Amino acid sequence: MSNMSPMMQGALTAAVGAVPIYYGMRTFMRGPTYRSSKRLDGQTVVVTGANSGIGQETVKELCRRGARVLLLCRNQSKGIEAAEQIEMELK
Ligand SMILES: NC(=O)c1ccc[n+]([C@@H]2O[C@H](COP(=O)([O-])OP(=O)(O)OC[C@H]3O[C@@H](n4cnc5c(N)ncnc54)[C@H](OP(=O)(O)O)[C@@H]3O)[C@@H](O)[C@H]2O)c1
Repeated sequence: MSNMSPMMQGALTAAVGAVPIYYGMRTFMRGPTYRSSKRLDGQTVVVTGANSGIGQETVKELCRRGARVLLLCRNQSKGIEAAEQIEMELK
C-alpha cells in the first residue's frame, strides 16, 4: 500500500468500502424472509399462478412440508408441465 499512488489508494479504499454497502442495500431491497419448517401433513393447499415463478416455488415448499397441493393455472398444459417438473425435482 505504501508504494501506491494516493489516487490508487483512494480507489482501493472506495472499492473496499463499496462492498458492504452493496450487500447491505441488496439485503434491504430483498425485504424480509419468512422461514419455517412447520409440517403441513393432512392439509390441502390451493396455489394460484402455480405454474411459474413464486407460485411454483411455493408449491415445492408446501409439498416438501407434506401438504396436498392443488395447482390452479389458467393454462392447463402449462400446469401439467409444471406439476411434472415439480414431481421430478422433489423425487
Ligand atoms: N419475482 C419477484 O421477485 C417478485 C417480487 C415482488 C413481487 N412480485 C409479484 O408477484 C407476482 C408473481 O411474480 P412471479 O415472478 O412469480 O411471476 P410469473 O413467473 O410471471 O408468474 C405469474 C403466474 O401468474 C399467472 N398469471 C399471470 N397473469 C395472470 C392472469 N391475468 N390471470 C391468471 N393468472 C395469471 C401466470 O400464468 P401464465 O404462466 O399462464 O402466464 C403465472 O402462473 C407478480 O405480480 C409480481 O409482480 C414478484
